[in-house]
Amino acid sequence: MKGIILAGGKGTRLLPMTKITNKHLLPIYNEPMIMFPLKRLINLGIKDIMIVSGKGHAGHFLELLGSGHELGIRLSYSVQEESLGIADALKITEDFADGEKIAVILGDNIYENDFEIKDFKEGARIFLKEVNNPNRFGVATLNGNKVIKIIEKPTNPETNYAVTGFYLFDETVYDKIRKLKISDRGEYEITDINNMYIKENKLDYKKIEGFWSDAGTIESLFIASEFIRNHEKRKM
Ligand code: DAU
Repeated sequence: MKGIILAGGKGTRLLPMTKITNKHLLPIYNEPMIMFPLKRLINLGIKDIMIVSGKGHAGHFLELLGSGHELGIRLSYSVQEESLGIADALKITEDFADGEKIAVILGDNIYENDFEIKDFKEGARIFLKEVNNPNRFGVATLNGNKVIKIIEKPTNPETNYAVTGFYLFDETVYDKIRKLKISDRGEYEITDINNMYIKENKLDYKKIEGFWSDAGTIESLFIASEFIRNHEKRKM
């Protein structure tokens, strides 16, 4: 399985910090944000990882992480020309994936624990977390052990299950991306991809334990930093 970190986008919700720096290079307490999703992939034993960033700061990621040698992995880099959404960023990783299954993590998602991926064989898997503010996320409606649908940022969420920013996909994801239409907010949505897998009855889910937050707003950046700080202190 190959790993992909999506670190494009404009980071507008973190202005003015993101005026000159990429969101994923801002600190979460004691490390640049991107280190957290990167460590999650490394902990799964994934050795080949591609980082997709926007045009402005691609060189900064290379300066920070280099070939990946120091971390015992192989890093590749790619550039998303325009911030046209998560599925658009994923599109450019097709050659890198080269027919293998992929583990995709959003560069601003901070998780306390590792993921269950061992029994994943085909289709897609999403990772859910109950939250108090589901309208900020993709929200899953469940029926027993099935996901019936996912709605992106619903005004009136049917459940509290946020679809977090870690996904497993088989190789059919790229054909699905080619079929996507741009959404009302002007993006190619990962939620639309996941709904295509649901239609094929090929999406399963796991609930995640422990802390999870994105770090894409001033408030959530603070909450994630605070969590990591407390976590680090507990280790001392
Ligand atoms: O954090 C989880 C949520 O992430 C999910 O619940 C939603 O379903 C999913 O759509 C996404 O929602 P956001 O609107 O919060 O995503 P955002 O635009 O903040 O982008 C998240 C990351 O995705 C960002 O840190 C980098 C990457 N990204 C995003 C865009 C728009 C790209 O690489 N390229 C892009 O064009």
